[in-house]
Amino acid sequence: MTTLKHLSSVGEQPASVLVRAPGKVNLSLHVGPVGPDGYHPLVTVFQAVSLYEDVRATASEDLTLAVQGPGAELVPTDESNLALRAARALAEHTGVEQGAHLEITKGVPVAGGMAGGSADAAATLVALDALWGTGLLREELCAVGATLGADVPFALTGHTAVGTGRGDTLTPAMVHGQFHWAFALRSEGLSTPAVFRHFDAITENDHDMPDGADTALMSALRAGDAERLGAALSNDLQASALDLAPDLRETMAAARTAGALGVIVSGSGPTIAALGRSRQHALAIAAALTVAGVCESAVCASGPVPGARVVV
Ligand code: C5P
Repeated sequence: MTTLKHLSSVGEQPASVLVRAPGKVNLSLHVGPVGPDGYHPLVTVFQAVSLYEDVRATASEDLTLAVQGPGAELVPTDESNLALRAARALAEHTGVEQGAHLEITKGVPVAGGMAGGSADAAATLVALDALWGTGLLREELCAVGATLGADVPFALTGHTAVGTGRGDTLTPAMVHGQFHWAFALRSEGLSTPAVFRHFDAITENDHDMPDGADTALMSALRAGDAERLGAALSNDLQASALDLAPDLRETMAAARTAGALGVIVSGSGPTIAALGRSRQHALAIAAALTVAGVCESAVCASGPVPGARVVV
């Protein structure tokens, strides 16, 4: 069994560090009118789930990157890569002049609305903090992470949390037990900015956003009640994602037919999240989705799980 350890202690500089960071599903996602910075204010409830990005950072003079695993060929390896950007941001923040070789193993669907790129950035920050011996506080890593993408602080924090602002201001949510999900993956991804832009077009940027997270959802989480959680799932971006990827309607219908307690588009899509009554039920939903041929593949995962952590 793998032992998960907490962050590095200052002064210890290992030759190589492996960090694991989770993907997420938004249990609710309320979107406000776009601001002058091009970002939308959000009220969202994130849950970290057991699909992981692994990042191994090895001491090196230069900063280099390799990506492997499902969908690796779709991940940019140029300077736009979020892990490389995270490494540069951490070096700048700490004044470190070392490099590293980063090896990413994908486990979160690429361009799937589950924040795989943000998980890479989060894992890289934790890995390089340990490798370089910079010993930053978790809050500092979150502040550096927030400059890279709205979902990076949550990938660092994990568990279940209410996100406000751009989604990067986090308040932990109380949760009892585990929830079991089937995720239907689509062969072609969706662009997050495109889904937000289409959302603005169809709502004419005229829509309300609640002050806080839904009380029914938060109460279901506290009670560990999957049935009530399923009924409380919501996503303002869903209509936009379904317009841009209409085939997802069939995927969602198949998940409902398989008895899912709730079915939503995950984040900006196109991954479909279906909540099961149990782990066994989630496996049955994933099997039904695969057999129905309504997705590229289906995987199961449970949440909540912790944020980015050093493995070895
Ligand atoms: O922060 P991140 O780079 O992950 O966001 C990708 C894009 O998603 C942004 O450039 C923006 O178009 C959109 N977005 C948004 N409002 C948010 C988060 C993301 O409009 N709160």
